[in-house]
Amino acid sequence: MSFTFRCFDPESDAELLHSWVALPYAAFWGMHSATVADVVEEYSKIQSSGHHHALLGLDDGVPAFLMEEYLPSFSPLAGLYAVQPGDIGMHLLVAPPAGPPRTGFTAAVMETVLDRLFAKDRVERVVVEPDARNHKIHVLNERLGFRPAGGIVLPDKQALLSFCTREAFTSARAALHSSPIHQSPIRQGASL
Ligand SMILES: CC(C)(COP(=O)(O)OP(=O)(O)OC[C@H]1O[C@@H](n2cnc3c(N)ncnc32)[C@H](O)[C@@H]1OP(=O)(O)O)[C@@H](O)C(=O)NCCC(=O)NCCS
Repeated sequence: MSFTFRCFDPESDAELLHSWVALPYAAFWGMHSATVADVVEEYSKIQSSGHHHALLGLDDGVPAFLMEEYLPSFSPLAGLYAVQPGDIGMHLLVAPPAGPPRTGFTAAVMETVLDRLFAKDRVERVVVEPDARNHKIHVLNERLGFRPAGGIVLPDKQALLSFCTREAFTSARAALHSSPIHQSPIRQGASL
């Protein structure tokens, strides 16, 4: 796996993203019934917001995941918890497998996403708010160092607020790499 990132282009990438979000596995992304035009509109807003940004993750140059980073104080989380200066919010959507599923793929994606976020000196903690029923992402989040902080009610869902500190990520990634099921190391390419 060799992951790189580029900015998501709302016009030219919408059709691809639409093909992911329309699938049953992506139900918790909340765009199941969105049209391609809805995707263009939503991501145009995000990319021009100044506080929220979407990136396409590529695996050997092929689109493999979407990550979003945002400032919690400008998000629906504002007022729901005590936002700290080093906090950054994150959303992650992994593409459906193009071939047979690869063991460790989504953990490697999550590791790469967190590595990118913590590469910024000002970031000390990553914040997520997945749907409380999204068991798969809770498991993946915990594997990479997130710890639940409690349930919150957002406009569109009951969510599980969780945090991953820089220290927790460092420990979790060390444990991941010492695990016998961990496959080939990730090679990370240049990012934006
Ligand atoms: C939530 C999510 C990341 C869960 O990942 P997961 O639990 O590993 O997913 P699956 O159970 O479908 O994966 C089965 C296997 O296929 C692998 N796999 C998944 N996507 C793959 C891909 N695109 N290419 C290759 N392998 C893939 C996984 O690594 C896993 O193998 P492993 O457990 O041996 O490592 C993923 O389902 C997703 O992106 N969902 C939609 C978005 C979402 O809900 N985001 C969360 C919060 S907003």
